[in-house]
Amino acid sequence: MKSSEIRQQFLDFFQSKEHLLVPSAPLVVKNDPTLMFTNAGMNQFKDFFLGNETPKSKRVADTQKCLRVSGKHNDLEEVGIDTYHHTMFEMLGNWSFGDYFKEEAIAWSWELLTDVFKLDKDRLYITIFEGDQADGTKEDSEAYAIWKRIVKEDHILKCDKKDNFWEMGDTGPCGPCSEIHVDIRSKEEIAKVPGKDLVNKDHPQVIEIWNLVFIQYQRMANGKLEELPAKHIDTGMGFERLAMVIQGKQSNYDTDVFSPLIEKIGELSNKKYTQSDNQEDVSMRVIADHVRAISFAIADGQLPSNTGAGYVIRRILRRAVRYGYTFLGMDAAFIYQLVDVLAVQFVGVFPELVGQKEFISKVIQEEEASFLRTLSTGIKRLDAIKDELPSEQKELSGDKVFELYDTFGFPVDLTALIAQESGLSIDEKGFEAAMKKQKDRGKAAAESSTGDWTELLPSEKVQFLGYDNLSTSSRIVKYREVKDKKGTQVQLVLDATVFYPEGGGQVGDVGILTVGDEKIRVTDTKKENDLIIHFVDSVPKNVTAEVIGEVDQARRKEITKNHTSTHLLQSALKSVLGDHVAQKGSLVNEELLRFDFAHFSKLTDEEIQEVEDIVNAKIRENIPLEEQREIPIDEAISQGATALFGEKYGDNVRMITFDQNYSRELCGGTHVQSTGEIGLFKICSEQSVAAGVRRIEAVTSVGAQKLVNQQFELVKSVSDLLKNPKDVILALEGLINEKNELSKKVERFQQQAASLLKDELISKVENVNGVSLIIEQVEIDSADAMKQLAFDIKNKVDNLVLVLAADVGGKPMIAAMIADNLVADKSLNAGQLVRELAKEIGGGGGGQPFFATAGGKDITGLSSVVSKAKSLINLN
Ligand code: SER
Repeated sequence: MKSSEIRQQFLDFFQSKEHLLVPSAPLVVKNDPTLMFTNAGMNQFKDFFLGNETPKSKRVADTQKCLRVSGKHNDLEEVGIDTYHHTMFEMLGNWSFGDYFKEEAIAWSWELLTDVFKLDKDRLYITIFEGDQADGTKEDSEAYAIWKRIVKEDHILKCDKKDNFWEMGDTGPCGPCSEIHVDIRSKEEIAKVPGKDLVNKDHPQVIEIWNLVFIQYQRMANGKLEELPAKHIDTGMGFERLAMVIQGKQSNYDTDVFSPLIEKIGELSNKKYTQSDNQEDVSMRVIADHVRAISFAIADGQLPSNTGAGYVIRRILRRAVRYGYTFLGMDAAFIYQLVDVLAVQFVGVFPELVGQKEFISKVIQEEEASFLRTLSTGIKRLDAIKDELPSEQKELSGDKVFELYDTFGFPVDLTALIAQESGLSIDEKGFEAAMKKQKDRGKAAAESSTGDWTELLPSEKVQFLGYDNLSTSSRIVKYREVKDKKGTQVQLVLDATVFYPEGGGQVGDVGILTVGDEKIRVTDTKKENDLIIHFVDSVPKNVTAEVIGEVDQARRKEITKNHTSTHLLQSALKSVLGDHVAQKGSLVNEELLRFDFAHFSKLTDEEIQEVEDIVNAKIRENIPLEEQREIPIDEAISQGATALFGEKYGDNVRMITFDQNYSRELCGGTHVQSTGEIGLFKICSEQSVAAGVRRIEAVTSVGAQKLVNQQFELVKSVSDLLKNPKDVILALEGLINEKNELSKKVERFQQQAASLLKDELISKVENVNGVSLIIEQVEIDSADAMKQLAFDIKNKVDNLVLVLAADVGGKPMIAAMIADNLVADKSLNAGQLVRELAKEIGGGGGGQPFFATAGGKDITGLSSVVSKAKSLINLN
């Protein structure tokens, strides 16, 4: 069975059990500070489990793109070394939100695996949770009893919290789980060791394929478990592993999920994949795995960068590049060529790849090329560090690991990997310390701890009223404290709010909450999943009283103008540059708008002007806002609305139109009532931010007026300086030409003066015992000219001993030149000589025995330099 059929059968099966099929959430998580990437199918449903939101169906199923490379679930080190862990993988899952529970979840999983996929029942093993004293949880005897009716008792194993209690992160929904493991070894091996002895023992052929989690608790920040109001099902089955089992393979990489990639890597590197553990094969697996993670992350809007999620992606890419470089001999970018293969594989499943494949491959190519430039020098440096190690030392110091990280961009895990190949470990603590030192030198590390919520009212979905109002009455639903280096802040949820939470590039609102006679500042507003969180200075004294929330209106107004302008700008860019211009990032605040978009070359001045002219024309047209707040997403898309890749949209979306033939976007931000309010739009800069991504910054309204005024002022000042000529440019050009002419003249005069000075000095040569001696104070205007003069004289005069002292722009300088033969015959040394003479001018210097210079502070000492030189140079 082809893997695409396996995926489809899974979805069909649960659809037949009345599950709603939903799309995968984006790989990159927004609005959840506890997660960087989607690491499990249940992430997007977290709020349904916690009761913060009501699902539109109590049963759903999907295939979810997951990435396990950071935080609690991190498989990166295993990837490629073994044959069944991945960075990015698809998780097939079915969910019940307070609907069915263990009975159905268990029965259906068994039916699907054994009836539909026809897996051999004797090769399947079940684990159940044995309970945990510290948490106060009991053995899951309910699951045990259900399984006992289906499978032989000796195929059911009891396991501890580590294996059979599933948690998403340090806090959040969780519960005991029951896993299904499969034994794919040969009959002979099974006869020797029964499968049940190998379950949960990291055996590559006795592996978990499906995890049924019975979500019934929430892990609190204080470590305690709290019962959830309802019980839920969360199941997850690794699609790639399932394909391996059903296709009768021994490695995920031998399935049709990976084989097209492995083949292409073989073709590009001229190597053959032999399904072994040698470094070449490991490398091919690493690259086949990593290109998926990187491509999907970029497709979902996460570009490689130096911080946060971007750095995780960069690290994965660098790991792949390094394997290719060292073991497959690939010293030029090549991974980007796999994007085409990948995109074809996912056409009907994850169309975001095909839609952006050129962009993704361009970004990867640039990243590869730039890392390859430092990789070989970095590896040389690492080799040198290894060579310098005393033979008894088996660890690379933290400072060295940090040097590689800081100077060569080597992620720590990469250094660890290379070191490990030579039997060395790395001092991770030392590295962390070095890293911390650097961080402390810069900004203080942003450590924070978040307390548990104090709940005052039941958590319903909070209504955002801020599109129509800028003040409203409300009550506090819950609040909690967040401590970081800056101090303690309070996060507060209201049952109704006008404060716009940061999102879609638009910054969060600030303002005031009035509770009785108490006024509390709201310093920011953000979303966390579907909660709107107000960041305030303190908890009101009366937490149950009415709260009047008021947004800072003037600020919001400027933000709003900038947001609408961003829409106008996007459409203008598309019409000037082409339809490939897709949004890659955006920031909208009260001062400016910043728009990042996919485009491969610098915009010309003409293009920038054209874009700006279009936007200003649209402003002058005074186009009214058309806002559709709740429109089915399909309808919006069919009406031509621009949607963002990597954004999670609901079934109903908000559509913002400014002239249906000009700008129509899915957007949650705030907008002007008609474009005329913006007044003026002015682009301040255009630059590159990453491979294939350009950035435009612009200002509008009062900000644009200010900028224009500043520019006028500037021109006026220049004109004033030039005595207000008719044509400022012409006058400036004249000035520049004149200056160039004069410079040339000055240069000629200086050459003549130098030549005269040289002749004069030569005429003063004193002959002492066969030595041509010149000791003089001269007038000269640069150190270079002085050096030149000394060498010119040396070329003309044999047996020269020369000492020059000069006032160079107010600073005393000395130069000494001694003919090479005299250095040897008479033991004269220019370096020693100037060091001694420099004492007279309060300075120091040095050089070589035949030529040396010195500078100092005391100009009055120049004449003593001359007399001292005369007395020091003894030629008798
Ligand atoms: N949340 C569980 C897991 O990720 C099951 O979906 O394994």
